[in-house]
Formats: sequence, structure tokens, C-alpha cells
Amino acid sequence: MNEKRGSFKSSIGFVLAAAGSAVGLGNLWRFPYLAAMYGGGTFLIIYLVMAVTFGFSLMVGEISIGRKTGLSCIKAFDKLNSRFKWLGILNASVPILIVPYYSVIGGWVTKYMMVYLFGHDKEAAKDGFFNSFISGSLQPAVYFIIFFLISTIVILMGVQNGVEKVSKILMPILVILTFVVAIYSMTIKGAAGGIKYYLVPQAKYFTPKTLLAAVGQLFYSLSLAMGIMVTYGSYMKKDTNIEKSARQIEVFDTLIAFLAGMMIIPAVYAFSGIEGMTSGPGLMFIALPKVFNSMVIGRCIGFLFFLLVFFAALTSAISLEETVVSVYCDQFNINRKRSVVITVITSMVLGILSALGYGPLGAVKLLGMQFLDFFDFISNSVIMPVVSIGICIFIGFVIKPSSVKEEVECNGEKFHAYGLFYVMTKWIAPVLLTAILVTSILSAFGIFSF
Ligand code: TRP
Repeated sequence: MNEKRGSFKSSIGFVLAAAGSAVGLGNLWRFPYLAAMYGGGTFLIIYLVMAVTFGFSLMVGEISIGRKTGLSCIKAFDKLNSRFKWLGILNASVPILIVPYYSVIGGWVTKYMMVYLFGHDKEAAKDGFFNSFISGSLQPAVYFIIFFLISTIVILMGVQNGVEKVSKILMPILVILTFVVAIYSMTIKGAAGGIKYYLVPQAKYFTPKTLLAAVGQLFYSLSLAMGIMVTYGSYMKKDTNIEKSARQIEVFDTLIAFLAGMMIIPAVYAFSGIEGMTSGPGLMFIALPKVFNSMVIGRCIGFLFFLLVFFAALTSAISLEETVVSVYCDQFNINRKRSVVITVITSMVLGILSALGYGPLGAVKLLGMQFLDFFDFISNSVIMPVVSIGICIFIGFVIKPSSVKEEVECNGEKFHAYGLFYVMTKWIAPVLLTAILVTSILSAFGIFSF
């Protein structure tokens, strides 16, 4: 994102760049394990409904704020109304919490890439392999450091563009491969029950927790409520159609998440039954090696797959880390070098805690969670809902929905879904989000359970 403002040449350029930021571990790793954990079809349907209503509205809002002001997040809020500068800061601080644990998962991906490269794929397909990896030793911390250093080196050398170019070629291959593996997974013996679980909603799984998990995933996956889309919007040309772009990004991102679920959930069911669904963050790493193991050229496909995921994770980690670096620069008025040093120190500390949280530090619990789960919970289920309630109130009552309409329509296009946008940002989203947030915090503190 070093281009001058307004340098996305075309609408498709904008959509590809924003979709590139949106597609990452959120789609491939996080979505399938949450969907499996929170009732399959129930989670899927809630997610879809939220995406086309609320996710869409928030994305249009954020992009418009960015394009209207031509500024990145903190400055944009400050300019529109200086009393809301704190909201910009809160937005921008989300990546500080996400970078460390994102890189821990990036480390897991790196480990599995090595496993396939060196031909240990048979062992990886055995039960317990993943658990002994994350709990047994310092290995997760070592892989975290490797992954994190690679992204830091890329940032220091200023070669993000090179990496981005490579990944632009690799991403379509990843999508195709995900599609192929998803089709294969569906044909595994015993997968039918899993397909049904993933596609058919069941009322008994409909709980506030499922709602919160779905909203949190929506923010995470679409890179919302963290200032990213505001920044992207500030690079967007005036003649690009915001509404259409937001829809395209959303459809593309959701499609990949859906495919990733199709690739993983039926396989989990076939190999481990319904009990396998509660595996949590390890789901992808437990299920996929079994799928690859049952394929003829599984080792090759497995290596290719983890290599592609590695690149998807790396580009996301780089742009997340880049955001953190620029936030420190702006906020503390320091130069880039210093800012990188601070970023590395904070990320190392939080990342190592997260990496060892399932093993050597397993006894330490925050609100009953391991470090990684805790950082994930605080960012996705607490700060991001707060931020998005703030944005809704900001748009609904301070700058007014009509000013977003003006921005969307400034090039003569019509804002077709303005009615939806209006009720969503002004009424439904803030009320619903507040309700979900309060119940979930109470339940995390054990005051209330559902
Ligand atoms: N949405 C990305 C994913 O699904 C993660 C992400 C969040 C991200 N914020 C970002 C990626 C900013 C790049 C830049 O994995």
C-alpha cells in the first residue's frame, strides 16, 4: 500500500487488492473450525445472512469514510469529527493484537509445509500428531519466530510488492486447489453425514454464542472493524462503484470460506465422526493430513496446499504488520525503524505466549482460555464489536447515513441498497451487537451462561 492516493487504476484493481487482504487464514483456517464447532449449517446460515446485511453495510461505510477523507483510519475519524479520534485509534489498534497470533498460526502452516516437504506426511495423518506438536515442546514458538521474522524481513527490505505479485499468481491456484480438494472430500466414504451437518441448519444450535462467533468471524474475514477498509477506501478513485465493489469482495471472500468448510468438515465427519467437530483451532491441521493421506499423490498435493496457504498467510501477515508499524509511527511520532522495533518486541512477547499456550504455558489461563484463544476472543468478540458499534453510531448519528450515500453516489451511481444500509447502521446493527456483546462478556466472566 505504498501507492499514492487514488492509485487503484480500475475498479477490478480495487476489488482484487481488497479481496487479497480479505482472503487469508480467516477463510481457510478459522471459518471451517468455527462452523464445525457451532453447529455447521446453523453457523453457515447465520454467517451468510449477517454477511449480506451487516457485513455489507459496514464495508460500504468504512470504504466511504476512507474515500471521502482520503486519509487513513485515525486521521479520517479525526477529520470528520475530532471527538471521535479515539474510535480511529481503537480501530487501528486491533491489528496489534491480531498480528502475534496470526503469525503463530502462520507458524503452524510453516511446520506442516516442512512435514510434507520432508515426507513425514504419514505420521501427520495419525491421531495425536497435531496435539503433540502444539503441546509437546518449544517447536510452535520456533515456527512462530521463523514465520514472523520472514514477514518482518520483507517489511524491512520494502519488498512487499514483490511478495504481493507472487501471491497474486499463487492465489488463483489456491482457490482451484481448494475447490478440487473440496470435491474430493465430499466423495470420501462416510462424508455424507458431514455434508448434511455443514449444510442443514438445526434449531438446537442457534444460541447467542453462535451469533457472536459468526459476527466475530465476519469482522475477521472481511478485514472489517480494524481500519483496513478505511485505508483501502482512501486509495479508491471517485469513479469506482463502492456498492458493487463491496458486494464483489464479500461474495468472493464468502465463497472461499464456504469451499474451505466443504474441504474440511465432510472429511472430519468421515474420519472422526461428529465428535471431531469440536476440535477447535487445530481442525484444519488434524483433518487435512488424513484427506491427503487417502489420496494417490497426497504428499505432493499436501505440500502444494500448505505452500499456497503459507503465501496467503504471509501476505496477510505482512499487511497486518505494516498497519501496526504505521500506527506506531503516527501515534508516537517516531520513525519507521523505531516503529518496527516496537512492533517486533510487542509481537514477539504476545506471539510466544500464544505459541506456548497449549504446551509449556498450558497451566496459565485468562478467563479460562489459553493465550491464543484469549487474544482471539478479546479482538474478535470484544474490541471489534465495540468498534463496529462505534462506527454504526458514528455513521448513524454523527456524520449521518446520508453523507455515506452522497459519497457512494458522487459519481452519478445510485446506492441501490441504501434502505438496507440505513436501518442496518442506524438501528439493527448497534442494538443487536450490543445485546450479543453484553451476553457474551457476562458469560465469559461466568456471570451468565447459555
Ligand atoms: N481477513 C484476513 C483473513 O481472512 C485477515 C486480515 C484481517 C487481514 N485484517 C487484515 C489481512 C488486514 C490483511 C490485512 O485472514
